[in-house]
Amino acid sequence: MRGRTSRQAHADLPEGTVEEEHGREGFAGPASHLYRLHPPTGWDEVDGPLRPHALDTGRLPMEGPEALPVALLVNEDLRVSQWSVSEAPAWFFRDADGDLLLFVHRGEGVLETEYGPLRYRPGDYLVVPRGTTHRVAATAATRLLAVEALGGSIGLPDRGLLGRHALFDPAVVEVPEPDPHDEAGTFEVRVLRAGAITTVRYPFHPLDVVGWKGDLAPLRVNVDDFRPVTSPRYHLPPSAHTTFVGPGFVVATFAPRPLETDPAVLRVPFYHRNIDVDEVIFYHRGEFFSRVGIEEGMLTFHPAGIHHGPQPQAVERSRAAGPGGRADEVAVNIDARRPLRLTAAGEAISDPDYVRSWRQP
Ligand SMILES: [Fe+2]
Repeated sequence: MRGRTSRQAHADLPEGTVEEEHGREGFAGPASHLYRLHPPTGWDEVDGPLRPHALDTGRLPMEGPEALPVALLVNEDLRVSQWSVSEAPAWFFRDADGDLLLFVHRGEGVLETEYGPLRYRPGDYLVVPRGTTHRVAATAATRLLAVEALGGSIGLPDRGLLGRHALFDPAVVEVPEPDPHDEAGTFEVRVLRAGAITTVRYPFHPLDVVGWKGDLAPLRVNVDDFRPVTSPRYHLPPSAHTTFVGPGFVVATFAPRPLETDPAVLRVPFYHRNIDVDEVIFYHRGEFFSRVGIEEGMLTFHPAGIHHGPQPQAVERSRAAGPGGRADEVAVNIDARRPLRLTAAGEAISDPDYVRSWRQP
């Protein structure tokens, strides 16, 4: 320790300071806390590629039954896309590029798979293993956030000291019952591999599986099943909410939860420059306590190396509300190890003023 500090991270900040966590490996590696006189997000301007972005996925049009996911952010390990499905397509999809993690933002329907159907609703996570023949049979206009793991499998995290049944019990995870279709006709399967589509036509229905066994299957779990871990006296880092892990990335769920009750501890996130990961958050539902100007369906992208943290209005709102209360939000956080690139589709729905949203109003 040097100079004026607190002995406890996120608590008892020296008078007149803000706290920054300068850390490695997300929130798991070596870290120091810097007690600053000014929020490090108080820049006048940012020139160059490391701009924070806020994308409004609601500006993407609802697509017809031919639609595939529209990529917004990509790197060598993952693609983050928005997928709109207005009705059941006449064809089946097989993603041979990656395991697919779908998060249902809007809509209802059935994820039809070879393993059987999974009925879906808003707040569902659906995991479709790479190469599974499936289709999103929407009964109400459906908007999905899609994360493709290009380098391997999506799995559940090790719960470590929390124990195996923390966050959500593995028993709440739903897998499909077989629902074989024995139908003749012409059935089309579109296979995506290396970004290109190959079409396979069958004279019989491709979902003809009468039984399956093993430990690879589509699954469904809803954010309502997620039981966040919190502390009344310590602002836990987002990594405490890790829900899925994949090669080169992790996915966390920010679910409704009580806020810290100790008057001397931070109740909004500390500033940081997320030096080893690029951060993406998709805002699904509720009041986003650490953000202003963010609506449901928006997605923020904070590249590594440049700071983020709560906007001044969010800090003020938290201060005025006092200790306790609730964060009534549902958001999906994706941390990517390698730099993500914004696609042209992502750039087109990016708010050019977001980079200035930390200025004092
Ligand atoms: Fe962050």
